[in-house]
Amino acid sequence: MTRKTVFSGLQPTGNIHLGNYLGALRNWVALQDEYDCIYCVVDLHAITVPQDPGEFRADRHEAAKVLMAVGVDPERSLFYFQSQVPHHTELAWILGTITGTGQLNRMTQWKDKADVAGSNLGLYSYPVLMAADILLFRAEAVPVGEDQKQHLELARDLAQRFNARFGDEFPVPDPIIPKRGARVMSLQDPASKMSKSDPDEGSRILVLDDPDTIRRRLKRAVTDSGRDVRYDWEQKPGISNLIEILSLFTGKDIPSIEAEYGEAGYGTFKDVVAEAVVEGLAPIRRAYRDLDDAEGARLMQRGTLDARTRAEGYQQKVRELVGLAD
Ligand code: AMP
Ligand code: TRP
Repeated sequence: MTRKTVFSGLQPTGNIHLGNYLGALRNWVALQDEYDCIYCVVDLHAITVPQDPGEFRADRHEAAKVLMAVGVDPERSLFYFQSQVPHHTELAWILGTITGTGQLNRMTQWKDKADVAGSNLGLYSYPVLMAADILLFRAEAVPVGEDQKQHLELARDLAQRFNARFGDEFPVPDPIIPKRGARVMSLQDPASKMSKSDPDEGSRILVLDDPDTIRRRLKRAVTDSGRDVRYDWEQKPGISNLIEILSLFTGKDIPSIEAEYGEAGYGTFKDVVAEAVVEGLAPIRRAYRDLDDAEGARLMQRGTLDARTRAEGYQQKVRELVGLAD
């Protein structure tokens, strides 16, 4: 039996945080045991907001390194930079010709950005490029956090539309969204998600943060009124966020966390969460320290060559179906 193909991407902007890790990357790593996995540093998506070229080059390599430290294994998975494989943008153009602008106008991420200064065509067509990433390799499953659900829905629609018009070519990809951790919230504002772009560094924990930083961030995390540790997103979003994080790092289920720490008080509970996070992230910090930059760059180059070869075979089929192959 052939193995299912999995694809996912992460933007190399800023630092990789607990939301990325619990929402998506833990699944990326776990899926490698069973599936044919393709993981991509989506640098073309990242330039939809202005980047300083020199810093961006370093950020791209840094993101690749952190992903390897988290457990993305270039020996088992295809791992490369999106910009180095031009088939992504070729397919995005073709898919753009069957994408309705009405559907793009409804993307919530676009609606949030449409009217702000610096808005551009790249931001608008961003979900089409993401669909192309996924469909290029005929991926059947896509591990992502909950914020990508709507974008994935577009990829599914475009697969079906293409198939109906040109012939059955693309599998319709399924999202893999974890039951818990799919939307890790900001430590400073539990009503908004933890994000790389929040100007307040206290809002997030990075996977490479040192133990003292992690302890400090959690101590200062915004909690709710009252003092009982109870899982209730309506009344207690701050504490619920921390309960979920603790559950994911310890494997304990939520009722047993409530039973154990219900009366402990917020301060004690935050300390417990901090120690679990410190311990859970320690292997990533160690792995990061041991990685060699030159070896990392070499592995990414090899990934590029493999990805180009594989993409070319698939993309030729698309050119033929559309009438673009001679
Ligand atoms: P990005 O940082 O936007 O490139 O996102 C990389 C992956 O992390 C995507 O699959 C996102 O859905 C996921 N992700 C980003 N922020 C969060 C969050 N706060 N909670 C859970 N998953 C997230
Ligand atoms: N848009 C995704 C994000 O910001 C990143 C991404 C780009 C992606 N291409 C993808 C995720 C393909 C999954 C599959 O998180």
